[in-house]
Amino acid sequence: MGVLKQLNRTLAVAALVLVPFAHADEMSDDAIKERLKPIGSVHVAGAQPVAAAGGARSGEDVYNASCTACHGAGVLGAPKPASADWKPRLEKGMETLLDHAINGFNAMPPKGTCMDCSDDEIKAAIEYMTDGV
Ligand code: HEC
Repeated sequence: MGVLKQLNRTLAVAALVLVPFAHADEMSDDAIKERLKPIGSVHVAGAQPVAAAGGARSGEDVYNASCTACHGAGVLGAPKPASADWKPRLEKGMETLLDHAINGFNAMPPKGTCMDCSDDEIKAAIEYMTDGV
């Protein structure tokens, strides 16, 4: 009787202890590696802020670096920033303007010569030039 009681208690304790590990397959080698991963990723995680610092340039930065040469003074009829020049162009819709800025349009060179600009950066530069128009 005493032995049976003891066995019962042991089983009860074993059940309590084992329940959290009921999904035994989660404790496979892969699962253990996965759990340890954050420790191994510390170096990668630490490198992320550096990548973030080299992120997208603002519309103003792109404009000053690549667009002002023509658009600043209206060279070859380039629409000047924040001027009524943009009114009829804005009527074409941002999608068309962005397409023309990326692929070129008459004397407007593709990407305004900013070949390493992303589409989003070109769009930001257009938004900067057309702000308040
Ligand atoms: C070499 C000169 C030059 C540079 C550099 C330049 N543009 Fe232009 N851009 C023009 C000219 C000229 C036009 C007018 C083209 C036309 O309407 O015939 C124009 C027109 C545009 C238009 C209007 C397109 C349309 O459909 O009406 C957008 C948008 C534009 N440029 C964006 C940019 C952006 C953004 C940059 C910088 C990343 C840039 N441009 C750099 C010359 C330039």
